[in-house]
Amino acid sequence: MRRVDPVQLDFTAQDIDGILTAIRSSLSTGQLAQGEQVAAFEAEFAACTGARNAVAVASGTAALVCGLRAIAGQQEGEVLVAANTFYASAAAPLLAGLRTRLVDVDAATFAPSVADLDAALTSETIGVMLVHTGGIISPATPEIAQWCDRHGLWLLEDCAHAHGSRMGGQHAGTFGAAGAFSFFATKVITSAEGGMVITDDDELAQRLRVHRNLGKPELWRSYHTVLGENARMSELHAAVGRAQLARLDEFVATRARLARRYTSALAELPAVSPVLPDHDPASWYKYIVLLDPHVDRRALKAALAERGVRLGGEVYELPLHRQPVFAERLPAGEFPVSEQVCGRHVCLPLHTGMGDDDVDFVVAQLARTSAEMSR
Ligand SMILES: Cc1ncc(COP(=O)(O)O)c(C=O)c1O
Repeated sequence: MRRVDPVQLDFTAQDIDGILTAIRSSLSTGQLAQGEQVAAFEAEFAACTGARNAVAVASGTAALVCGLRAIAGQQEGEVLVAANTFYASAAAPLLAGLRTRLVDVDAATFAPSVADLDAALTSETIGVMLVHTGGIISPATPEIAQWCDRHGLWLLEDCAHAHGSRMGGQHAGTFGAAGAFSFFATKVITSAEGGMVITDDDELAQRLRVHRNLGKPELWRSYHTVLGENARMSELHAAVGRAQLARLDEFVATRARLARRYTSALAELPAVSPVLPDHDPASWYKYIVLLDPHVDRRALKAALAERGVRLGGEVYELPLHRQPVFAERLPAGEFPVSEQVCGRHVCLPLHTGMGDDDVDFVVAQLARTSAEMSR
């Protein structure tokens, strides 16, 4: 039976040869951390995003935690985070010794509007973490950055989904103080595990380097000035990340072509409404569609899987205020739009191993299944 999977890694034989050569060199020289691979990955990532600095870390979560520690310094207080995002975005302030306050979002962008932020602002607020869900940069982002400036707050962008996403020529992660990326295996590009923080602020970048290195300003001297952690990226991971970064433009172009095909085919399908970026290029990390309220998501996913179409995870299935871990840890609130978007969307398969015929197959199965379910 024909089968379309939600995600797929993309390494050519040539990519693998290049990675193995780099890894062989690291293993034979013994330079396994903070060597030439990490330095090159940082320089290449900074050049790609247009940021002055890029600091490699061990994961996207580490990018958020180190980013928050380096930005907030001695500050105490609350960080505003969307209620419809990933666990790590809301956990990071808590792990960094701060507090998290959830905010509701706009269904058109899956991100908070200025009005949502205004409604959540308290005298305790010190910053905003803006997540570019699915790779969509909300058109409100520049206005949100100005709103933060007006209120004396900083803006940290969670760009775990947004490698290659640009709005008005500006890369995700460059609208605020810093941007945090993940290179987990499902992401647009991967280093197996890994993350990166970008910033134009040289002093902030230096604080980030200290925080990722167990709080040591000097790389190999055991002299610790801040409460840091070991969040370094290894040379081996950097070698994998570099091979993927070299192909980012190609990956984004392929994803955009598949996404365009979805968008034109889905225009004919009444049961689903795509959630589309308003900027180009977008990373197209996820192709998000809102389902009509009468469609049972779980039943739809099960029926599609029977027909060879495996949908991946949602972004996200359960709003954060419903996650058991946060029950006692976050201020209570109501997040009706987050509830609605979390409960009603699915993400269609989208990866660089797919062809146009796979998109057509997914749309045909979706049309057939949703028609049967609305009878
Ligand atoms: C929005 C978001 N933020 C943060 C993370 C954390 O990244 P990592 O898994 O690399 O720690 C992820 C993904 O996994 C994510 O999707």
